[in-house]
Amino acid sequence: MTTSHRTVQLDLVPVVDASTGSPWVQPEAFAHRRLDAPATRPVDLHDESLLICGDAAEALAAIPDGVVQTVVTSPPYWSLRDYGIEMQTGRDDELGDYVAKVVEAFEEVRRVLRNDGTVWLNVGDSYTSGNRRYRAPDRKNRARAMAVRPPTPRGLKPKDLIGVPWRLALALQEAGWWIRAEVIWHKPNAHPESVRDRPTRAHETIFLLSKSQNYYYRIDAVQGPNQRRLRTVWDLNTEPRRAGDGDVAGHPAVMPMTLARRCVAITSAPGAIVLDPYAGSGTTLLAARDLGRRWIGVELNPSFVELIERGLGSR
Ligand SMILES: C[S@@+](CC[C@H](N)C(=O)[O-])C[C@H]1O[C@@H](n2cnc3c(N)ncnc32)[C@H](O)[C@@H]1O
Repeated sequence: MTTSHRTVQLDLVPVVDASTGSPWVQPEAFAHRRLDAPATRPVDLHDESLLICGDAAEALAAIPDGVVQTVVTSPPYWSLRDYGIEMQTGRDDELGDYVAKVVEAFEEVRRVLRNDGTVWLNVGDSYTSGNRRYRAPDRKNRARAMAVRPPTPRGLKPKDLIGVPWRLALALQEAGWWIRAEVIWHKPNAHPESVRDRPTRAHETIFLLSKSQNYYYRIDAVQGPNQRRLRTVWDLNTEPRRAGDGDVAGHPAVMPMTLARRCVAITSAPGAIVLDPYAGSGTTLLAARDLGRRWIGVELNPSFVELIERGLGSR
């Protein structure tokens, strides 16, 4: 990839500072504090980053208004994976309950966002089961697929593509969010599928949402191919991460670091606070730290919180 003097090379390691044009130096990471349960009193953020073990909405309730610049997140997809913990989002039998739960958590997200803040929301789609309750084992991760499938949502038919990302996005729009872009994350290395009556699915959806009409957006932070302005189709491989990138083998749904870095860089500046309310293995938090941002991460499963700590310690 070639790099103009105004562009940070984000898909690997930045080589040039976007604001000065000087060689890029890995910024000093902000120290972080860990809370093993949502705080009952308002949290004083000082100058730190924050890792909270708890439910997204409950944990954010103690964060002050308007402190977060951008959110990069991937909530659990509807009824796809079992993250092995009570109260997890995504296990709802009814699609409407799932959508309502995420929209409710996003009310807290909106409160903690600055008025010029944004959200990158990655959500996966799925097909109806035709009322088959049994799910074939996930070959990549046998332990972690939901064992049962939810009933077919009312109004849909067997084998229908559900359209979960847009159903959620429209509910968020209804709740007051601006939908500013639908990005297609194309995965050139997508796994083959065994189906023979439709094209193999090789993409997921990422929405750019904003809290207001005008918001912070660094148009030159990332360029598309051939130095063109970034477009809405992003070709990014899924990344099996290796030792040294943190121990992510224990998490079944890790976002590519290239994706998280790109989002963080476009909608925040160094020193700003980046949030992931469904932090998983901590990809967004690591991306934020590596790019000199502060971060707030919330994750319900304590073993994933341990995973995040190990990831932060290993780099
Ligand atoms: C799709 S994964 C996120 C993966 C993450 N982007 C990464 O790269 O590792 C969703 C995460 O949300 C967590 N989770 C489920 N319900 C939650 C809730 N109510 N509040 C906070 N986290 C939750 C799950 O344990 C899981 O780790």
